[in-house]
Amino acid sequence: MKVAVVGATGVVGQEMLQLLETSPLGENPPRLLASARSAGNKISWRGEELTVEALDEGIDLSQLDVALMAAGGSTARQWAPRFVEAGVAVVDNSSAFRLDDTVPLVIPEVNPDVVRPGPCIIANPNCSTIILLLALKPLMKLKPVRVIADTYQAVSGAGREGLDALEREGSGGEFRRGEPFPFPIHGNLFPAIGDVDEDGVTVEERKMLDETRKILGVPDLVVQGTCVRVPVARCHSIAVTLIFDEEDRQRLQQAIEALDCAEGVVFQEDPAFVPTPAQLSGVHDVSVGRVRSPFPDTLQFWVVGDQVLKGAALNTVQIAELWSRAN
Ligand SMILES: NC(=O)c1ccc[n+]([C@@H]2O[C@H](COP(=O)([O-])OP(=O)(O)OC[C@H]3O[C@@H](n4cnc5c(N)ncnc54)[C@H](OP(=O)(O)O)[C@@H]3O)[C@@H](O)[C@H]2O)c1
Repeated sequence: MKVAVVGATGVVGQEMLQLLETSPLGENPPRLLASARSAGNKISWRGEELTVEALDEGIDLSQLDVALMAAGGSTARQWAPRFVEAGVAVVDNSSAFRLDDTVPLVIPEVNPDVVRPGPCIIANPNCSTIILLLALKPLMKLKPVRVIADTYQAVSGAGREGLDALEREGSGGEFRRGEPFPFPIHGNLFPAIGDVDEDGVTVEERKMLDETRKILGVPDLVVQGTCVRVPVARCHSIAVTLIFDEEDRQRLQQAIEALDCAEGVVFQEDPAFVPTPAQLSGVHDVSVGRVRSPFPDTLQFWVVGDQVLKGAALNTVQIAELWSRAN
């Protein structure tokens, strides 16, 4: 397999490179692609210095099998179809193709069956959606009618610029509106990630609804909540409430049993176990704690995951590994 990482200099791209060092996809050194700004930069991979190439008109795509893209929506819209035309499969991290009916939207632990062989575009879901669904999928057999998911999202979800903003403001530097945040983030938080639509719902909140419905194949499931940006470097946390039509005092135990054997989930029944973002940076699995049923028609829990890894780079590499096994 010959793999390209598009966006190799970014927060997600850097993690993808590290994961490829131990992946079966890393049998050959990956091609590193980024904007013209980074062309010629060197990145160390398994002790070897690899050179970043500009993704531009002069690029030869013919020797590639898979492109792992983490370079934003406009780059994906422009380049993903060109990779596919050149016979290359693309796994893309942006939202550009996620809701396209012809594009599989994949979490390997949740819906691996939608991956098909051959050159095609496969979309990686939104980071909060992935973290939510690893815990929600095993609970869907309990038939919740409504999912309320309030997120606490780390600044690295907005890439290098987000991390820079927290660091700059935290060391006494100024707030720069729109670079990338609309409000100061140090010592602050704000419940507005992306633009607000006519219903008052933000882009990030809408992604969780639409993508959850597509991945689970439940088009009428209600998923609502408030997505909040918090001054945490890495790992998204989500407070989840599931609402059911009927009261059931057995449901809590059934949920505990389902979470206990869920793939990609670390669950500890001990109520003193509280997963936190600081603990979970760099960890592959998501962690679930505080499972409770204070009213017999609800179930609540707290889930935390490294959104750069399982929410992006790791999920992408896992999809590409799944795709390569299907070929
Ligand atoms: N960060 C997360 O937690 C996360 C989670 C899920 C999904 N995602 C998605 O993953 C993608 C990358 O996010 P990130 O956080 O890694 O962003 P980032 O740190 O800002 O990195 C962006 C990358 O894209 C490259 N790039 C920008 N314009 C390009 C162009 N015209 N042609 C080729 N490469 C270009 C940049 O190259 P230069 O260095 O040369 O500018 C850099 O390598 C985005 O679509 C984002 O929504 C991110």
